[in-house]
Amino acid sequence: MAHLLSPSCSLDISSSSKLYCKQSIQGSKVIPSSFMLQTFNAPIGRLVLQGKRLQRSSCIVRATTLPISQEAKTQPSSGSHDTSSGPSERKKVMVIGGDGYCGWATALHLSNKNYEVSIVDNLVRRLFDHQLGLDSLTPISSIHNRIRRWKSETGKNIQLYIGDICDFEFLSETFESFKPDAVVHFGEQRSAPYSMIDRSRAVFTQKNNVIGTLNVLFAIKEFREDCHLVKLGTMGEYGTPNIDIEEGYITITHNGRTDTLPYPKQASSFYHLSKVHDSNNIAFTCKAWGIRATDLNQGVVYGVRTDETEMHEELCNRFDYDGVFGTALNRFCVQVAVGHPLTVYGKGGQTRGYLDIRDTIQCVELAIANPAQRGEFRVFNQFTEQFSVNELASLVTKAGKKLGLKVQTLSVPNPRVEAEEHYYNAKHTKLVELGLKPHLLSDSLIDSLLNFAIKFEDRIDAKQIMPSVFWRKIGVKPKTVAA
Ligand SMILES: NC(=O)c1ccc[n+]([C@@H]2O[C@H](COP(=O)([O-])OP(=O)(O)OC[C@H]3O[C@@H](n4cnc5c(N)ncnc54)[C@H](O)[C@@H]3O)[C@@H](O)[C@H]2O)c1
Repeated sequence: MAHLLSPSCSLDISSSSKLYCKQSIQGSKVIPSSFMLQTFNAPIGRLVLQGKRLQRSSCIVRATTLPISQEAKTQPSSGSHDTSSGPSERKKVMVIGGDGYCGWATALHLSNKNYEVSIVDNLVRRLFDHQLGLDSLTPISSIHNRIRRWKSETGKNIQLYIGDICDFEFLSETFESFKPDAVVHFGEQRSAPYSMIDRSRAVFTQKNNVIGTLNVLFAIKEFREDCHLVKLGTMGEYGTPNIDIEEGYITITHNGRTDTLPYPKQASSFYHLSKVHDSNNIAFTCKAWGIRATDLNQGVVYGVRTDETEMHEELCNRFDYDGVFGTALNRFCVQVAVGHPLTVYGKGGQTRGYLDIRDTIQCVELAIANPAQRGEFRVFNQFTEQFSVNELASLVTKAGKKLGLKVQTLSVPNPRVEAEEHYYNAKHTKLVELGLKPHLLSDSLIDSLLNFAIKFEDRIDAKQIMPSVFWRKIGVKPKTVAA
C-alpha cells in the first residue's frame, strides 16, 4: 500500500522564501530549471527533484519569475504555424495553468495565432501524479523542454513563470512583469474524485481554487484593471435540474415580479463547489470593481491532438485515463485498448455536455477576441454535444468492434452521489454566435482516439482504471489506495 498524498504536503507554497534556481542561458539570463519539493509527514517520503533543502516544514515549489523567453533567437524549423488570423496589435495573454491539459493546448494555439503568451503554473498537476502513482498515457516533456521545442519549431516565445497563484507576492510579480491584456485561468485542482478522497484533499481543493481565483481578481484590480479575465468554470456547477439549463442567468417571475438572476447552482463535489464559489466571487468583483470577466462553463473535454501539439512529440499533450483524473471518453478508449470492460457507473443515464479539446482552444480564443465589457460578468456554456454515459459506451463499443476489438461493458457501483437517470437540456449558443465551429464527435474521431490508446498500450496501468474514490466514504484520515 502506498499513500496517495500527505495531508500536509499541501502545496503550501512559501510566499517569503525565494528559491531562485539559477541556470545560465545565453549569458546572465536565468530560468527556472529546477525546484525543490519537500513534504512533511509524507508517507511516500520526501520528494526532492533537484535543488537544496529548505528549513521549512512545508512544500516549496519556487522558481524565478524571469521569463524563459530570453533565450537566443532560433529559426523556425517548421512552416506549419499559422499567424494569419491573429490580432494586428499583439495582445498579451497570461495562461494560468498552462502546463495542464487544456492550458498547454491553449497556450500553444494562442501563441500560434500571434498572441504574446505567458504560462503561469506551479506544476502541481505533475506532483499529483507522483503522489498518486499515476501517469499520463502519453509521455509528456518537462515544461522547459516543451517551451524550448515550441520556440525551435515556430520561432515563437512563450514566457514562463513557475509559482503558485495562491502566493500573492508571486502573482503580483508576474502581473507587473508581463502586463497581461487578458488572463485565461485554468490553474485549479480540477478533479472531482481528487477532492473527494479525504478531508485534506477537499480542503486543498477549495483553498487552492478559491484563493487562487481571488488573488487573480485582486491582481487585476491592483495592476491591470482593464485586463479581461477568462475563467474556466464547469457545467457541473449547475448540477442536473429538471428544467433547461440557461447560460448563466435565468429570468424568473415570482409573486408577480420579474428579475434576471444567476442560474441556480447545485454542485455535487467539493471541487464543483469550489467553482461555484469562484463564480460568485468573480460576479461580485465585476459589480464592485468593474472587472471584465467571462466564465466559461466547460463540459467534459476529450481528445489529445491539436494542430500545434502535433508539430513535435515534445509538444504532446497529457492524456489522463485513470479513475481520478481521466474523463469519461478518454477513459473508455483506454479500456478498450487493454481489453478492459467499459466501466459504466450505475445506470449510465448520467448526461453531460462534451467537447473536443480543439474546441476548448477555439472557445477561449473567441472569448479573448471578443472581450466582456468593464463590469460585465459574462457566462458561456462551453460544450458542443450532450451524451449519456451509456451513449458514449455504445459509440466506443461500435468503434472498437470496427477495429476488430472485443468490447464489453461493465456496470460498476456508482462511486459518486448523482442522479443516474435525469432530464438534461443545457443551452450552448453564445459561443456559436461568436463563431465557434464545433468538431463533433464522429466515428473517425473515436477511431483515432482508440488508435492513440492502442499506440501507447504499453504505458497503460490497468490498476488505475477502476474507480477508487467513493463520495460516501470520504473521511478525515488521509486515504491510501493499493499501489
Ligand atoms: N479537463 C476537463 O474535462 C475540464 C472540464 C471542465 C472544466 N475544466 C476546467 O478547466 C481548467 C483546466 O483543466 P485541465 O483539465 O487542463 O486541468 P489540469 O489539472 O490538467 O491543469 C491545471 C493546471 O493548473 C496548475 N495549477 C493548479 N493549481 C495551481 C496554482 N495554485 N498555481 C499555479 N498553477 C496551478 C496545475 O499544475 C496544472 O498544470 C480547470 O479549471 C478545470 O476545472 C476542465
